Amino acid sequence: MPLITLREALTAAEDGGYAVGAFNVSDLNQAYSVLEAARQSKSPVIVQSIAGMNPYADEGWWWDRLRELVVSYDDVSAVLHLDHGSRYTDCIRAIEHGFTSVMIDASRDVKTGEASTFEHNVELTRSVVEYAHARGVSVEGELGTIGGAETPEDGVVEEIVFTDPMQAADFVRLTDVDALAVAVGTSHGSVKFTDAEGGQRLRIGLIEKIKSELPQTYLVLHGSSSVPQDAVATINANGGSLPESYGLNLEQKQEGIAAGIRKINQGTDSHLVWTAALRELLAKRPSEVEPSQILSSPLTAMQELTAQRMREFGSAGQTA
Ligand code: 13P
Repeated sequence: MPLITLREALTAAEDGGYAVGAFNVSDLNQAYSVLEAARQSKSPVIVQSIAGMNPYADEGWWWDRLRELVVSYDDVSAVLHLDHGSRYTDCIRAIEHGFTSVMIDASRDVKTGEASTFEHNVELTRSVVEYAHARGVSVEGELGTIGGAETPEDGVVEEIVFTDPMQAADFVRLTDVDALAVAVGTSHGSVKFTDAEGGQRLRIGLIEKIKSELPQTYLVLHGSSSVPQDAVATINANGGSLPESYGLNLEQKQEGIAAGIRKINQGTDSHLVWTAALRELLAKRPSEVEPSQILSSPLTAMQELTAQRMREFGSAGQTA
C-alpha cells in the first residue's frame, strides 16, 4: 500500500465513524514502534514529526529515512505528516521530502507567541494550501489557540482561545484546508491540568457545533494525551520529577470521536511510557551499557501504548 494523504485517511475514518491516531515520533526507533503497532493492529496510522524535534544533525536526512521506513511498511495505510509547521518554509521542505500531509499552524505569531490575526492565519494557511494541493498533499490548519508547548521554540501557552464555529466556517471557505485543528479544551505536553477533573474539560458541545458548520472538513484534536499516572509514578520513582498532572480520559476522547473528531494527536503519552521504561531498566540494571538491551523495553512500551490507542480510537482492524 503506498503512502496515503491525510484526506484519504480521514475520509475513510469519517465513513467508518472512527478516528485515526497521529503519533509524534522523534527518531527512527519510535517510528518503528508506531508502525509495528499499526501493522499488528491492522490500523491506519498517521506518523508525524515536528520540525526541529529530532536528535539528528541533518533534518533532511531524518525526514528521508523516516519516509523510507514508512514506505517499507507496504501493508500499512500510513500518512506521513508534518505536525505544527509554523513557517511556510517548514511545510515546503516537508513536501519536498515526500510528506503526504502538512500542518501549517498560523494561529500564533511564531516570533511573539501571541495569537495571530484571523487575516494573517488565513493568508499564510492559504499560501501553503495552494502549494500543497498542486502537489497532491493535504493540509491541516489551526484556528483558536490550544494550550501547552507545541514546538521546541515555544514557551508554554497558558491561555486556550476556543475555536469559534462561525469563524471556523469562514476559515475553511477562505483557505480550503482538508483538516482543522480545533481548540476545544485540550492542552499540549506532560503538564496539562492540575486536577483529575481536567479530563472533563473537553467541550463536546463546541465540537458538535463546529462539525455542523463544517460537514466536509475533518476535525483534529491536539493535546489528547491521558498522562498515564503509572508512567508518571515510575518516572518519579526512578529519579524523575514530573509534577502532578492529568490529561484527557478515555471516555472524553470517545465522546469527541462521536461528536466528529477524526484525527487524534498524541505525543506525550508515548514519550511518558518510553521514558518510564527506560528509567526503570537503567535503575534495575545499573551496569548495563549495551544499547540493544537498553532500548528494547522503551520501544515495546511505546508499541503497546500505541496499539492500545488504536483500539480505543476504533481504527484497529480497519485495514484488515
Ligand atoms: P499531547 O502532548 O497531549 O500528546 O499532544 C500532542 C499534540 O497535540 C501534537 O500536536
